[in-house]
Amino acid sequence: MAESASSMPVEATLLAQVAEQFGTPCYVYSRQKLVAAWHSYADPLMGRDALICYAMKANSTLAILDVFARLGAGFDIVSAGELARVIAAGGDPGRVVFSGVGKSESDILAALEANILCFNVESASELRRIESLAQRRGTRARISVRVNPDVDAGTHPYISTGLRENKFGIPFTQARELYRHAQASAHLVVVGIDVHIGSQILEVAPFLEALDRTLAFADSLVAEGIAIHHLDLGGGVGIRYRDEEPLLPADYIREVYARLGERPWQLLLEPGRSLVGNAGVLLTRVEYLKQGDGRQFAIVDAAMNDLLRPSLYDAWHDIVALKPPQGVPQVFDIVGPVCESGDFLGRGRSLALAEGDLLAVLSAGAYGMSMSSNYNSRARPAEVLVDGPTMHLIRERESLSDLFRGERRAPFAEDEQLA
Ligand code: LLP
Repeated sequence: MAESASSMPVEATLLAQVAEQFGTPCYVYSRQKLVAAWHSYADPLMGRDALICYAMKANSTLAILDVFARLGAGFDIVSAGELARVIAAGGDPGRVVFSGVGKSESDILAALEANILCFNVESASELRRIESLAQRRGTRARISVRVNPDVDAGTHPYISTGLRENKFGIPFTQARELYRHAQASAHLVVVGIDVHIGSQILEVAPFLEALDRTLAFADSLVAEGIAIHHLDLGGGVGIRYRDEEPLLPADYIREVYARLGERPWQLLLEPGRSLVGNAGVLLTRVEYLKQGDGRQFAIVDAAMNDLLRPSLYDAWHDIVALKPPQGVPQVFDIVGPVCESGDFLGRGRSLALAEGDLLAVLSAGAYGMSMSSNYNSRARPAEVLVDGPTMHLIRERESLSDLFRGERRAPFAEDEQLA
């Protein structure tokens, strides 16, 4: 059975204690759920030459990285900032792959310095930049080319990346030229091939179509003497937010190996959402109930700056009350305090609510805290990791002075006229 979003990862009574002790809004994660999600990939890969590189953009909080690092994870990063987090969390840079279309010089230098496993190259210009920086440092950079297989992932257009018109990846014809260049370079080492077609993919078919095209291309590289050590298939499977029946990692992995056959390549996967999404909730408190014209609003203390997905993608997150329902449920839009009509966490939800009630916004472990902002000068939430009955504060709630740390007042003299 697919992991159900509607079952809470942490018991309601424990969530209420978290709210009591650490306040709201607050992200709460279950260590047990994180570990179980890890095993949903690691177990079917047992005995295989494979590396799970957690796509930490899904949730880059140090303690979350730490949990996965202890389980032997590698990491898929997209910035020097993410690399710094891996190192701070005790992760192994030697198991890091670097994705993304816009790696800056300082990003690349930091990654060379840390001696990461592989750069997933996204353009000819980037390859040249990596090569010249490796030369400057007197080293060799390990690379794979991220190919664009022109496959429709059948997901939200903002998170679909494997189509010809997307900015990601390199068409096969150009990719071949880059591999030839890298193969001949004294400062580059070809180690793999990489493909990623999008996120929240629920069916196996688009993954396999991308795999087939990538395998055919990789075989042709090998045929011309370009050795491949690993095959990186990008992000993981989608998750259940509402009533989806996602593909299971074990089924996906079985299909991948059925196609890989005798090829001796190490398999890399970069799952993000499916490792953390259903391990976390956003805990929030109802501030006010407000009767609008034909609509009722529950105004809560979390907002789009804390969890952007509903506003940005019109994404559904189940929302449940922690207290057993009292009274007759009514239909509410669950909205935040931010000054935008697009600031909602859920609309048209049937709940029996009173002011002061606690709500859990489910499936919020992935792309929740990591996409949060300080919009409206709102301090970002605290984060708590629950381990059995124990609660660990893993990130303090931001303070108001954190909000303008590093800022300066304007440099005008006291008596200057701003005419
Ligand atoms: N690898 C690469 C190169 C990626 O771009 C991504 C996600 C992943 C791995 C991880 O994919 P996952 O296993 O999480 O599906 N903010 C959006 C999702 C953006 C995904 C971007 N790339 C959301 O909240 O739905």
